[in-house]
Amino acid sequence: MNILVAGGAGYIGSHTCVALLEAGHTVSVVDNLLNSKIEILEQIKKITGKAVVFYQVDVTNEAAMETIFSEHMFDGVIHFAGLKAVGESVAKPLEYYYNNVVSTLVLAKMCRSYGVKRFVFSSSATVYGDNKVPFIESMPLLSTTNPYGETKVMSERILMDFAQVNNHHSIALLRYFNPIGAHESGLLGESPNGVPNNLMPYMTQVAKGKQAKLRVFGNDYETIDGTGVRDYLHVCDLAEGHVAALNKITAGVHIYNLGTGCGTSVLQLVEAFEQANGIKLPYEIVGRRPGDIAECFADVSKVAQELGWTAKRDLVAMCKDAWRFEQRLLS
Ligand code: NAD
Ligand code: WQD
Repeated sequence: MNILVAGGAGYIGSHTCVALLEAGHTVSVVDNLLNSKIEILEQIKKITGKAVVFYQVDVTNEAAMETIFSEHMFDGVIHFAGLKAVGESVAKPLEYYYNNVVSTLVLAKMCRSYGVKRFVFSSSATVYGDNKVPFIESMPLLSTTNPYGETKVMSERILMDFAQVNNHHSIALLRYFNPIGAHESGLLGESPNGVPNNLMPYMTQVAKGKQAKLRVFGNDYETIDGTGVRDYLHVCDLAEGHVAALNKITAGVHIYNLGTGCGTSVLQLVEAFEQANGIKLPYEIVGRRPGDIAECFADVSKVAQELGWTAKRDLVAMCKDAWRFEQRLLS
């Protein structure tokens, strides 16, 4: 298939480009490089031996997107082009609502105009709010605590309403849990600007000595050891989930959790990292981070049954691959 990957130079998008190329698909990437670098495209080529067509364009620029769609006959679109920092979304709500919602509107409009039948959207487990675990696709969504989460709820709703009246389109809303890790080559991974907000990039920076120690946000949750529990999945498994969705979805809207189905606490992840890499990670327990929930993990039976996808890589691989990538970074 001929696939447009919006946000394809980013963390999850770049790994998905690799998975698509390896599965024999043709890939075009549109990315404004706001949170990524042009060099990523070279890394994709090094891994796969194949090039992608690249447009440095903002997806919210409808006229520029018209030009791209008119130059290709896409079979599908994957929409990764979002801003994703939860804290920043509280400080910059208008930028988040505009970027994340308008990008969805423009891409859906283009798919309607140019008859592109498959649409895969990057949603998030954050749409479940503080529901009871495991989170299952049929649950009523509880309110999210930040504008970022709201943009995901809104985009899902827009795509559901779109599908109601455009019933030849096949739409997958993929709710990711916590993607971590990197491509095993060490050529692709996550390199956030500034001090990382997320746990794994923070841990790899502690291992490298860029941060003095990890701050564990709370050990008084009702969890196995008091620290927050999440469903960490390898970014390459997540990437392969997108290929499965593109191949399998039929007309209508389909919602899938992409996770492992297993919960891991902060301290369990620290221990797994230490064992996988033979490195001690200094940490201290500090207060809870506002907005955090105690536990978040997926029910993954629907995605396994309908798409035949399950996460294959374990925590050891996630920790080893994340650390290999961090070591290759210059600073
Ligand atoms: P990322 O920031 O690494 O990648 C997003 C890419 O989109 C970047 O390259 C950025 O430059 C680009 N982009 C953003 N807005 C754009 C626009 N208007 N036009 C063109 N390009 C634009 O983020 P990621 O971690 O790869 O996440 C990808 C998607 O998955 C996002 O929508 C994010 O909200 C969602 N998601 C991520 C996680 C996670 O933990 N990383 C979890 C759940 C959902
Ligand atoms: C994981 C656990 C923290 C950092 C976020 C978004 C979510 C999704 C994925 C996009 C929690 C603890 C963290 C640290 C810590 N993104 N922690 N010290 O919060 O589950 O999810 O990223 O959709 O929407 O909210 O991920 O990696 O930030 O935190 O103790 O320095 O690690 O409290 O329990 P989170 P995270």
